[in-house]
Amino acid sequence: MKPLLTALLLAAGSAHANPVTMEDQSQLKVPDAQAQPRFVPPAEGELPDNAFGKMVREGHALFVDTRRLMPEAVGNGMNCSNCHLDQGRMAHSAPLWGAYPMYPAYRKKNDKVNTYAERIQGCFQFSMNGKPPAADSPQMTALSVYSYWLSTKAPTGVELAGRGYPEVAPPAGGYDFTRGQKVYLEQCAICHGKQGEGQKVAGEYVMPPLWGRDAYNWGAGMHRINTAASFIKYNMPLGRPGSLSDQQAWDVAAWINRHERPQDPRLVEGSIEKTRLKFHANDGVNLYGQKVEGVLIGQGTGH
Ligand code: HEC
Ligand code: HEC
Repeated sequence: MKPLLTALLLAAGSAHANPVTMEDQSQLKVPDAQAQPRFVPPAEGELPDNAFGKMVREGHALFVDTRRLMPEAVGNGMNCSNCHLDQGRMAHSAPLWGAYPMYPAYRKKNDKVNTYAERIQGCFQFSMNGKPPAADSPQMTALSVYSYWLSTKAPTGVELAGRGYPEVAPPAGGYDFTRGQKVYLEQCAICHGKQGEGQKVAGEYVMPPLWGRDAYNWGAGMHRINTAASFIKYNMPLGRPGSLSDQQAWDVAAWINRHERPQDPRLVEGSIEKTRLKFHANDGVNLYGQKVEGVLIGQGTGH
């Protein structure tokens, strides 16, 4: 299978003047934040009342209520929709309709061509700090079917405006923890808690945690300050996206990502330094394995 695929890709490359380039997706390069997203996913009312519609509904339920419905697969306090807003529909919030038509795709993170199911498994392992369900499990099928349905009438292999989280250029003067803390306490703590612990009602999170044992782990895309800044700038504070300056988004992203969270599940021989070298040294802007004010970051929460 693998050599055949390579041969096909090579053949395709030499036969056409403009071969399809397989983008490196270890970190999505999202092209144009200014381009107006025009794709509109189907409305819930358009769902057919049949076996397919039922499966879409199941996938939707798993996406927004992941922790409760899949406790065996989720190791923290998160639901998929906590980072993919409006049930995976919102542009600039890594919407599922922007993702589904772009797979299979090469990802540097695991150095292979990933199917859509494998991409979702990545979010289970890192963002949800859990154990990914099997690619052929009913849950994975339902999540894929939900994504497929949201992508109805989207072209295949075409980067749609609104995909991913648009890049926010690093501020010229870098970031600053003290300023980040100030933004955090003034604009985020009211919902996410002073210690980033989120808020629970009747034992269930109603506001997701940003650090600590129930947050995304040290292997998640969101642990990169650049990725968190992008998410935050375009999605937070909830209901007021775009209200922070680029500088504020970077400062507060750095403040969040200097706090401990569950260990990177890829931990190499128990060594933070080896893990840093192998997985973090070339992974955007991140603090894993570095010292901040004399304290080693990346020790994990001992979950
Ligand atoms: C803590 C935040 C977070 C959670 C929770 C999360 N994700 Fe993600 N997801 C991300 C980030 C960050 C990316 C990568 C974006 C990048 O690399 O720029 C991503 C990427 C994706 C992509 C690929 C997007 C694309 O355009 O290629 C899919 C699909 C996806 N997630 C599905 C899921 C599913 C399903 C769940 C629940 C099982 C989930 N995510 C939970 C943060 C999260
Ligand atoms: C009004 C309440 C509210 C405010 C204020 C708010 N958030 Fe959020 N935030 C949320 C909710 C709710 C979600 C999950 C979205 C969902 O499930 O639809 C979220 C999600 C997130 C996430 C991704 C999920 C996670 O837990 O990792 C991050 C990161 C985040 N917020 C950062 C911030 C930052 C930084 C600020 C301040 C600039 C902020 N938020 C302000 C309510 C809020």
